This record gives sequence, C-alpha cells and structure tokens, in this order.
Amino acid sequence: MKKVGLVGWRGMVGSVLMQRMQEEKDFDLIEPVFFTTSQAGQPAPAIGGATGTLKDAKSIDDLKAMDIIISCQGGDYTTDIFGKLRAAGWTGYWIDAASTLRMEEDAVIILDPVNRGVIDAALARGVKNYIGGNCTNSILLMGVGALFREGLVEWVSSMTYQAASGGGANHMRELLKGMGVVYGSVADELATPASAILDIDRKVAQTIRSDVPTEYFGAPLAGGLIPWIDKQLENGQSKEEWKGQAEVNKILGNSAPIPVDGLCVRIGAMRCHSLALTLKLKKDLPLAEIESIIKSGNQWVKWVPNDREVTVKELTPASITGGLDVGVGRVRKLNMGPEYVSAFVIGDQLLWGAAEPLRRMLRILLE
Ligand code: HSE
Repeated sequence: MKKVGLVGWRGMVGSVLMQRMQEEKDFDLIEPVFFTTSQAGQPAPAIGGATGTLKDAKSIDDLKAMDIIISCQGGDYTTDIFGKLRAAGWTGYWIDAASTLRMEEDAVIILDPVNRGVIDAALARGVKNYIGGNCTNSILLMGVGALFREGLVEWVSSMTYQAASGGGANHMRELLKGMGVVYGSVADELATPASAILDIDRKVAQTIRSDVPTEYFGAPLAGGLIPWIDKQLENGQSKEEWKGQAEVNKILGNSAPIPVDGLCVRIGAMRCHSLALTLKLKKDLPLAEIESIIKSGNQWVKWVPNDREVTVKELTPASITGGLDVGVGRVRKLNMGPEYVSAFVIGDQLLWGAAEPLRRMLRILLE
C-alpha cells in the first residue's frame, strides 16, 4: 500500500478532508502517516487505522519516506518545505490545498469532474504536483463547467458572495461574535413590539461601527458585507478577482484564455460561496438546451428551476451547506441580448472548494 503523509489534518480544511476520507473509506487503500508541526512523538490520531506516533512535518527525512503527501497546512508551510523536499531528491506526489504552487509550470490545478483529461495528460507527462484550486473558481466550474466544455463561453463576469470560512476558522468565529454583539445591542427593544424600528436601526448602526469585532476581517462583517477579498493589485483588481481568469483557464488547460472577471465580496454566510454570473455565449441557444448542457456537467450539479418558490428554498446556503451538491439556478436570458445569460451558482467552499478535489486526486493516484 502507498504511504500517504498527511500534514495539516487538524485544521478546518484538514478536518473536513479527514471526515470525507473516512466516509469514502479512502484509508482502507493507503498506509496513512500523520505529521505535525508541533507535537512530534505523540500518539497518532485514531483516524483510518493509523498507529504509531506523529512524525515531524519539518523532517525532510520523514517526509521523503512517503509516496504521496497531502498538505492542508497552508502556504507558509509549502513555501518552507516543498523546495527543500524536492531538492533532497523526493519524487513522490505532492497534493496541496494551498495556493503557493498553483500557477507553477510543473503543477496542475485539480478538479477532476471538470478537468480529468488535463490531470491524466499531466500524469502521463510525469507531473508530480497537484494543487487544489481557489474555492470560488472550483465552485464556478463544478456548476457551469459544461458550458466551457462545449466551447460556448465567450466571457464570464462573476460577481461573488463569499462566506466567512474562506478566511478561516477565526473568521467564522468573528462573524458569529459580531452577530451576537449586534443582536445584544437591541435585544430589549426587540422584545418590546412597540419599540420604534428606526431607533433600533440607529443603535444597530452605531454597534456595527464601533462594537462588532474586526480583528480578522479588518472591517465589520456581521450585518454588512466587505467588497474586497485578499491583496490589492496594481491594476485595481483584488488578488481573489485576479485568480478568476488565471485559474479557470489553467484548470481547463486553455491556450487562448477566456476572459473571467468581476468583483469578489465577503458576506455573512458561514461556508457557502455563491456567484452571480453573466455569461456571454458564442451563440443564441434555447434555454432548454442551456439547461441540459449545464445538467450534463457532473453528477453534483443540482439544477434549480428559475422559479421563485423553489429558488428561495433550494438555491441558498441553508440548503446547500455541508453537502457536495452545487446549486445552479436563476438561469435566464438577459436584456443585453440573446447570447447573454445569467446564472447563480452556490457550493460549500470547504468541500468542492477545498477538501474534496484533494481526496479525489489521491484516488486517481491509487487507480
Ligand atoms: N480565497 C478564498 C476566500 C478561499 O477568501 O474566500 C480560498 O479559496
């Protein structure tokens, strides 16, 4: 059995990965070796029949003994360790959730329901580095990838509504604390039906401006939104916005890039990222045909008819969170012309956006 080193399995993405690997019985097929950056020598966790002790995630010798390494430890760890490990002659497969290596020539961005062909071609060429994509891009392509597969997309404008989990566990906690602070500031008034809503609103606005915690997001998220995600680039895009075109085209293996751009916005959802898309198609297709192409994308596309009652029940974080389905709805022709189509895509960013492509890449390596 292949020795598979697991690094960063205790964090949020790592924990989701461990859960999914157990559900899918991936551990039956591997010899797992658990690594740690802080507790080497302590007993390995009771996950997947692992025995023995935790290995040091900084030990190049211990890492070198692995056939495959899966890292959810984050970009700083990859930056620190990956180069040293390769320089030491390690030729195993590196599967990583961090963005560090994504755009490298010798790395493939993995999303096998969408780009299995790109992955297979890379394996045949001897590529050893397989990196999970940015969550928003993975969800976009899990939702409407079939339109790209059919060569129908001239460009796409992608306006995102990104959940707190994209920032990390601390960000999710900060959102919830903020919600509590806002509620607490007007709890008494809310309990009194006669209280004036504009008085409540004034207090809420004051609380959001001064009392909602901002340590992790840098601005109050509870009761609001933040229209910027990640670093500022010189061209006016945020880094998250830049990733759209760069990564989507790399995932698809396009030599002539399809324009992908839009604004990325943080909202107060817990772990579902959503995207409001404007797609310019290369031709005027009937809506029924667009629907059947989108549905043909993969088994996780959850088609939601463009109907109010179904949409407000099925195309929401409340409905999608915690599962592998990627909702696709609000598909209709826009006033701009018959080739302009809207779509709303929503998925759990910790699953398809982070953990799931990693364990599926492991399965491909074990085939
Ligand atoms: N960068 C994403 C976000 C998460 O902040 O929502 C990781 O893909």
